[in-house]
Amino acid sequence: IAEHTDNDPLQLALEEAAALLQRGDIVAFPTETVYGLGANARMTEAVEAVFRAKGRPSDNPLIVHIADVKQLDEMVVSVDNTSRRLMEAFWPGPLTLVLPVKPDVLSPRVTAGLDTVAIRMPDHPIALRLIARANCPVAAPSANRSGRPSPTLASHVLEDLEGHIAGIVDGGATGVGVESTVVQVQPNGSVLVLRPGGITLEQLRNVAGVDIVTDPGITAAPHGENQAPRSPGMKYTHYAPKGKLTLVQGDSPSGVADLITSHLKEATSRGEKTGLLVFDEHVNLYCGSVVSSLQSMGSLSHLETAAHRLYAILRQMDDEDVTFILSETCPEEGLGAAVMNRLQKAAGMAVIQLNS
Ligand code: TXA
Ligand code: MG
Repeated sequence: IAEHTDNDPLQLALEEAAALLQRGDIVAFPTETVYGLGANARMTEAVEAVFRAKGRPSDNPLIVHIADVKQLDEMVVSVDNTSRRLMEAFWPGPLTLVLPVKPDVLSPRVTAGLDTVAIRMPDHPIALRLIARANCPVAAPSANRSGRPSPTLASHVLEDLEGHIAGIVDGGATGVGVESTVVQVQPNGSVLVLRPGGITLEQLRNVAGVDIVTDPGITAAPHGENQAPRSPGMKYTHYAPKGKLTLVQGDSPSGVADLITSHLKEATSRGEKTGLLVFDEHVNLYCGSVVSSLQSMGSLSHLETAAHRLYAILRQMDDEDVTFILSETCPEEGLGAAVMNRLQKAAGMAVIQLNS
């Protein structure tokens, strides 16, 4: 779709993509977070095609994308004051709100039978123009095969879904790099964070004027039976590279580096192909270690870089057939909460804790 050579190739691509969505085909498009795989949210056939293409469990509901707040009236029963304040502050942007759904408007496959629907307005000109042009709410999960790292480039989408989708609108690299923050206002008025993401807890706190609480399911072990996450998606292993990823955490950067170096050495001598994710501040601590794929997550003082690069780095490890991967960690503040959440899930919660 991205290869028109007429006067306004983007406009032509958007018209073609919008027409595909209207008739029930599935199309990938960029958002400010990650690429989404879009379907007309009113058409069950189209929504089922998304689940099939991704290999996604059918009990995991999709986010509905809109281009105008007026589209809300069609879909939701009501919008409480806190949700209203949050959407005024953060839309368009990486915040998804779970709201009570009106019956019989959206395909029941979008909400996986729940009485709520997750809605967001993406902050990307291509996404907004596509949704407006398609003139329908667009259900879109991340455009990866289920379990793979989310796509931040059109080429990532092709890697996973070529032959299974009608097209991609190529908008280059996405911005934020991790998915939207998913929240639901509780009956007691507090804001429950179901998934950390592009809008930070600090940003929510500044605007909401009510308590912000995080779902304990967010950090539960992926297949833990003791906690039922409120957001069905949180119970599945996600973002996993093919190699075995372990996080190494501790107060002393040099202690962490020493431990990582010895684990890398051991793995190399076992014949593993090794990978390492580090922050720039610590790179020089690893000059004595041998690693085949050394990847920078940028500076600890600018975690936007880690968020932006994380999924591409995990895919890069796969491309290089890395089998043994270690990663530094960052404080769970600001975007660090989302970065750590995705790293923990990618690692299947495997963490080595360095005691200081
Ligand atoms: O940034 C994003 O949010 C990206 C881009 C494409 O917009 N989309 C995305 O969609 O990450 P997906 O399907 O990969 O993740 C949707 C998350 C899942 O964790 C799902 O369980 C949760 O939102 N969710 C959807 N509907 C829900 C509902 N009614 N109640 C609670 N959680 C819901
Ligand atoms: Mg996803």
